[in-house]
Amino acid sequence: MGVWEGRNKSVVELMGILRGNTNPQHDFSKVLSSRDITDLANFIKYGLLDMSKLVDYKAKKPLQADLTSGRAVFGICAACHLEDGKGINFGTPEKPVYIGFISKDNPFETLHKIWAGQPGTRMPGMYGVLTQQQMMDLLAYSQSLPEE
Ligand code: HEC
Repeated sequence: MGVWEGRNKSVVELMGILRGNTNPQHDFSKVLSSRDITDLANFIKYGLLDMSKLVDYKAKKPLQADLTSGRAVFGICAACHLEDGKGINFGTPEKPVYIGFISKDNPFETLHKIWAGQPGTRMPGMYGVLTQQQMMDLLAYSQSLPEE
């Protein structure tokens, strides 16, 4: 079963699969807490994004986007990343890396981070907050921000 097809199963079924109910070699209950298994099953059921519907893989650009809407939505991000996307440096002081660069270099990772948040940091996931269209708008706007 591919992870993508997993969405057709119920959360309870997915939790069972992660506990090895269907295949003992697929038992993660020793390494994942009960809470983690619940979270992971919910993520597979509801959280996966079909990037092929959002991004032109060759051009690395959103398939359909509205910059004005993207700019408005970016207000959420600007609280931490600032209006020009340079509020948080993912690189080093000598070689700074900002959203303007990451979003062009790796639009897939950018969308994933927007959707799911950045683990271990205060960056929240936008799952349930933004629509997929708003995420494409946001990606287009992020790609218009300065790289340095
Ligand atoms: C509450 C503060 C906060 C908000 C709001 C926020 N971020 Fe972040 N973001 C962070 C932090 C902190 C990091 C991790 C920085 C690091 O890894 O050095 C991060 C990381 C990222 C990354 C990953 C960079 C990498 O290295 O992979 C991207 C892309 C990103 N943010 C885009 C956005 C976008 C777009 C929004 C708006 C939907 C947003 N962020 C909202 C705080 C925030």
